[in-house]
Amino acid sequence: MSWTMSEKRRMIGEVTAGGHLARKKGVPLSVEYVSQVDSTAEDAPIGNGIAENSVGETAAAASAKAPDYPSSLVGTSVVTLDDISTQQIRELLHRAQYIDAHRTTVAHTCDGRVLATLFYEPSTRTRLSFETAMLRLGGQVIGFAGAQLSSVSKGESIADTLKTVSNYVDVVAIRHPKEGAALVASHAASVPVINAGDGGHMHPTQTLADLATLQSRFGRINDLTVGLCGDLTFGRTVHSLIETLCRFGHVRFVLISPDELKTPQYVLDRINATETCSYVEASDLAENIGDLDVLYMTRVQKERFFNEDDYLRLRDTYILDADKMRLAKQDMAVLHPLPRVNEIAVEVDDDPRAAYFEQVKNGMLMRMALESAVIGDVLPGYEPLQRKEVRA
Ligand code: NCD
Repeated sequence: MSWTMSEKRRMIGEVTAGGHLARKKGVPLSVEYVSQVDSTAEDAPIGNGIAENSVGETAAAASAKAPDYPSSLVGTSVVTLDDISTQQIRELLHRAQYIDAHRTTVAHTCDGRVLATLFYEPSTRTRLSFETAMLRLGGQVIGFAGAQLSSVSKGESIADTLKTVSNYVDVVAIRHPKEGAALVASHAASVPVINAGDGGHMHPTQTLADLATLQSRFGRINDLTVGLCGDLTFGRTVHSLIETLCRFGHVRFVLISPDELKTPQYVLDRINATETCSYVEASDLAENIGDLDVLYMTRVQKERFFNEDDYLRLRDTYILDADKMRLAKQDMAVLHPLPRVNEIAVEVDDDPRAAYFEQVKNGMLMRMALESAVIGDVLPGYEPLQRKEVRA
């Protein structure tokens, strides 16, 4: 996809915070974001027609959540994981584990449901795993991959597209190159909207996959030293992961990037505001790898660069190879949201510390957990974590 310079500037450059977005202080939002939100959309209820399908399961699961979160995930749009409580995130992890162990049992959970995947940006894993997740739950899928074949090419707004698609489906997953697009979509839709990546901003379901991978590797998602390496400016998966790990607390972040691709201030502010978390910024991977429990590698985000020369100069700054892995702890986990370009040599794939293809599997399971939860469909035989904990 090729964008003009001014289009790219509009997508990522201007910082506008306003209106109901004040809750995410300092988040970079494109100018279009503000102009696209129409006042009627803001008042639109989320999850119309969904709540009545709710069952005790999800309500019970969320019964001990923070008071400012809804008591159930039914009908909830997930633009960032800040939209759901940490208890609900734990519940989703538990739900995904159950789904993995009971694939046949859950295969008809979403019979009769339809998911729309509206992907205005390239994707392999994310779209296919959202879709596979719904298919494996017994539901069906509609959507588009590439806006050129939809009415967007005729000039239709995101809000109108979502108001339309809401009539067809039970849940929407949307990916868009502009920061704030998923939020606009969630306000316009009358069914839950899940952000599958909005520009360089957030990618909550990738974070769910990352958390599931940490949980399975370490048995916990905190008390870890987490190195994030590569494009920390434009890498939305990094922003989502830091935001969420801060909520669970007790994480030391090592932010490894070239000067030009450092972590945005709004993300650093989040760490600073978390008493139990801290960060250091660094530029050398080999010097720091030995301290890490987790190394989260990222691709330099070519599509978000203003000019190709900068991209070419920066793209191979970090290459994780067998030599560097020799400097790392024996139980370090290497994560990467994928796709990789050059930043992890293929020789690392056989190292037991490579966890990036596990992340892919976890991504599908977490999307199964999330899709069924926001629709409100019961997983047969599933016992919510909350209920189990109360009984224990
Ligand atoms: C990531 C994304 O799209 O942000 N990929 C993904 O969804 N798994 C990372 C990337 O594209 O570099």
